[in-house]
Amino acid sequence: LPYFDYIDGVLHIDGVSSLELAKQYGTPSYVYSQRAILDNYQAYSRAFASLDHQICYAVKTNSNLAVLKSLAQIGAGFDIVSKGELARVLQVTDGKKVVYSGVGKTADDIEYALNADICCFNVEAVSELDTISQVATRLNKTARISLRINPDVDAKTHPYISTGLKSNKFGISHQAAVQAYLHAKQLPYLQIVGIDCHIGSQLIDIQGFSDALDKLIELIDELKSHGIHLEHIDLGGGLGVRYIDENPASVDDFAKLLLPRLRKLGLKLYLEPGRSLLANAGVLLSRVDVLKPTEFKNFAIIDASMSELIRPALYEAVMAIIPTDTRNAREIHTWDIVGSVCESSDFLGKDRACGLQVGDILAITGAGAYGFSMACNYNSRPRPCEVMVDDGSHRLIRKRESLADLWRDEII
Ligand code: LLP
Repeated sequence: LPYFDYIDGVLHIDGVSSLELAKQYGTPSYVYSQRAILDNYQAYSRAFASLDHQICYAVKTNSNLAVLKSLAQIGAGFDIVSKGELARVLQVTDGKKVVYSGVGKTADDIEYALNADICCFNVEAVSELDTISQVATRLNKTARISLRINPDVDAKTHPYISTGLKSNKFGISHQAAVQAYLHAKQLPYLQIVGIDCHIGSQLIDIQGFSDALDKLIELIDELKSHGIHLEHIDLGGGLGVRYIDENPASVDDFAKLLLPRLRKLGLKLYLEPGRSLLANAGVLLSRVDVLKPTEFKNFAIIDASMSELIRPALYEAVMAIIPTDTRNAREIHTWDIVGSVCESSDFLGKDRACGLQVGDILAITGAGAYGFSMACNYNSRPRPCEVMVDDGSHRLIRKRESLADLWRDEII
């Protein structure tokens, strides 16, 4: 991983010792490399430089304000799915490069977004067109819209993160799309600007993107024959990353696959990457608290759990767990690395061969995406802190929650 290296046997994050970080900020703690995030973004900019495009970072991936700010500063737009995510973006920049996806937008959400002058609504249902038109009319503001098409292609990913099949709740079916555009065309205060899809996440095989693009191109042509001319095409996010031994297509492969057809199309391209920008720019540092060898299994209980990092419990995601200090040789055993939450699904890694001692600090890699943003307080665990490392220096970007934070909003 770029910017994550062992120096004299100790894991360093962009020049900073992970042991020092664990000592200073405590554990569990999320640590990100700002340079890794920005490099990942630049890889997209470079790959698509020959085409008019806008990268809209998917805020759900990691919505820390410092992350949003650093991406905004290098020109990123944002893909949001809630009023809360838009409010976060507005803390660091304006709404002009925001695209708004999401299946359940309410009149209230839409009003908030219109007042922020967002770039585009990615509309997910015909009824949403009516709601947007009504709110826009009332506010006397034109809403720029794009329809999210469900292209019914198999993204070949975990069923919980596949979104482009007709059995999924997302988008408007390919078959219903033209009717929906024609409906939009006759509604007041709507300006049709684009077409959109997002077929799933952690896609290793990029054929799905190619199939989806073909389906959208068919629709774009059909729309033209109805006098509907679009300005942009949005292909969503979804490019996979390596957690263990996956071999995902690179951003360059992805661009190479799509660019010839996109150039011919002549529309501005929007992309909504999340994981491929953040996952491998972050780790979760956690301390080994209890070792519990049993006749059946060996359990290593660490101070992170499914409350801080739910991906293994929710998707059976396999994430690498590596030592931060390799200076002392240890006897290798097979461990289940688990948290102390009262659920059997509370594991971070199963059957891992490693040498462990109580007090060791481990790093769970790939944790920059869908880590903190999915963390919760289950079992009344204060959420961890977040730290940004930038070229040898580091700073707190979110405080660890205190015990009092747990009941801050409660009323007896
Ligand atoms: N655009 C839309 C409309 C999305 O729904 C998503 C992710 C993205 C973009 C960004 O996709 P990415 O580039 O990150 O694959 N929590 C799951 C992932 C859920 C993804 C949901 N949508 C996980 O931890 O694997």
